[in-house]
Amino acid sequence: MSMAAVDILADRLADRHFRSIVDLIERQVGIQLPAAKRTMVEGRLRKRVRALDLDGLEAYGRHLFDEGRLDAEYTHLVDCVTTNKTDFFREPAHFEFLRDVAVPKLATQAGTGPLQLKVWSAAASIGAEAYTLAIVLDDMIRRGHRLSFSILGTDISTEVLGRAGDGIYSHEMLAPIPPDLRRRYVMEALDSARREGRIVPELRRRVQFRHLNLMDEHYDVDRDVDIVLCRNVLIYFDKSTQKAVIEHLARHLRPGGYLIVGHSESMAGAGAIGLNQVSSSVFRKVSQAPR
Ligand SMILES: C[S@@+](CC[C@H](N)C(=O)[O-])C[C@H]1O[C@@H](n2cnc3c(N)ncnc32)[C@H](O)[C@@H]1O
Repeated sequence: MSMAAVDILADRLADRHFRSIVDLIERQVGIQLPAAKRTMVEGRLRKRVRALDLDGLEAYGRHLFDEGRLDAEYTHLVDCVTTNKTDFFREPAHFEFLRDVAVPKLATQAGTGPLQLKVWSAAASIGAEAYTLAIVLDDMIRRGHRLSFSILGTDISTEVLGRAGDGIYSHEMLAPIPPDLRRRYVMEALDSARREGRIVPELRRRVQFRHLNLMDEHYDVDRDVDIVLCRNVLIYFDKSTQKAVIEHLARHLRPGGYLIVGHSESMAGAGAIGLNQVSSSVFRKVSQAPR
């Protein structure tokens, strides 16, 4: 075993500091951090130890809780404990459903005028989900659908929001975008050695990113959103938080609007708050919520 490996094994958070981080994150962010995640959390926090030039994780814990630096460090702590994995066209059946069923239905409901869609990616991470929506909707417009759209992407992690706004992705990230759509909606870096591309400005203009904590009592978002995607974040919350977040999101949907969660996420009790399941992990708000 190398010396570096020995050092990492010895470099742990003090138990009381780990418990304080767990309590804080569960209370403020909603994310559950069971003991099984301790090694992962410690691994991620080591970059903060290096950035702050501290002596190890125990010193980091003291820095947060004994030396009163929690406020200054809080944003970084949240960035470290959130899992931001995402992909373009992740769970592609959802985008097919939106293109083939949901958006045409909303257009019919809109009557004769052009449909003005409001879409919200409520755990947007680095923006792949929001830009996938923009690509799908703009492609529909090009195919003759009469609609316009605006997309809001929100997340609790400041770091990912910055990257989402830039709209720059590696070739590996961009690979799931079908080639014809990628040619149209992604600009290649001038320096091909960089192996990255940027979402075209015409799409970036229609996608806005901002900070929002799903645990907040009040969401600063319109209450007539047509489509909300809240995918692959509820799994990190406990059951009662999941329920509260779903109820809260549903209040921002207009009647007939759609809420889409991740395929592995449970939506027990959706019917009781006026959400009917219309496809796998897709729910539609009924026109009149039950009393
Ligand atoms: C695994 S990513 C999912 C990204 C995207 N929705 C997808 O399915 O590809 C989960 C995101 O939820 C965000 N998140 C976690 N807790 C949150 C909270 N309380 N409020 C808002 N966003 C949160 C994380 O920062 C992370 O970017």
